[in-house]
Amino acid sequence: MTKQPVILDTDPGVDDALAMMLALGSSELDVMGICTVSGNVPLDVGTRNARGVLHLLGQAEIPIFAGADRPLKRDPVFATEVHGKTGMGRAALPEPNANQQAGRGVHAVDFLVQTLSEQPGEVVVIAVGPLTNLALAEQRGPGVLQKAKQVIVMGGAIAEPGNVTPVAEFNFYADPHAARRVIHSGAALVIAPLDATHQVMLRESDIEERIAPLNTARSQFVVDATRNMLARCRQIGREPMVYLHDPLAVGAAIAPELLDVETVYVDVETSGDLTLGQVVADRRDAPSKGRLGTPVDCVMRVRAEAFLSLFLSRIFSLACLQI
Ligand code: BDR
Ligand code: CA
Repeated sequence: MTKQPVILDTDPGVDDALAMMLALGSSELDVMGICTVSGNVPLDVGTRNARGVLHLLGQAEIPIFAGADRPLKRDPVFATEVHGKTGMGRAALPEPNANQQAGRGVHAVDFLVQTLSEQPGEVVVIAVGPLTNLALAEQRGPGVLQKAKQVIVMGGAIAEPGNVTPVAEFNFYADPHAARRVIHSGAALVIAPLDATHQVMLRESDIEERIAPLNTARSQFVVDATRNMLARCRQIGREPMVYLHDPLAVGAAIAPELLDVETVYVDVETSGDLTLGQVVADRRDAPSKGRLGTPVDCVMRVRAEAFLSLFLSRIFSLACLQI
């Protein structure tokens, strides 16, 4: 089987780490490199986390390319109240060793531009953080994102409320100008918004009954990384669970048959006081003056149980989960 070359652009982050585990545990994918971006945590913290996760997975040879350390225009925002100060909840990742690939000192934007230009139509980009690196790549080489076979993005909320403001999802809120630029890039875009990612979650019972008993370094990492998120849910009176936002974007590359996609006309708000980062979706019936925004394939429904089984079997390298 020929493997699909992919670049993962990420701001690690607990669910970003889970997305890395899913991508690297999936034999359909050849992860060419990990690009990091400021988002859940500052760039240097996220880049160190990416190294630690690769080390944990025994894949330290995969290169990491550090990218943008701030959004295009707005001030940086982080999500440390969700992911913890280190970005990894209570998990202690292995210290990266000196031999670990550091991306040969190449900036993530240069890596994206060079790889997509050299291999037009071949590479899938999976972006699960703010879209700053992708937007800068497009700025550097206009049209470069159209050279990707597909650009899969976790971000935005269509009919679902936001998760950082009443209307905005974190990745689009953290860099709305970049999100807008990528949406209008003409790339073969698939977006996994909150509408879809809120259908996939690790419940506390999954963690206690299906993960903790595996008793491996990986399972312990997941238990420790997710502990604070579960506690936070309890504090605010919600069912304790962790959304699999970023893994779902990887799922779109490995198991698209589990997802239902709708073409939606979308744009992103870049200036509103109350609406910064909101996806404006034009779902009007036959508007007389044409639709606002750009048509984009948006994942709207997921076969959630099947996705969860796939996720667990891949991240723990189990042929079949009998738990
Ligand atoms: C997104 O925001 C981040 O906190 C997560 O890693 C995910 O990419 C969900 O809104
Ligand atoms: Ca993320």
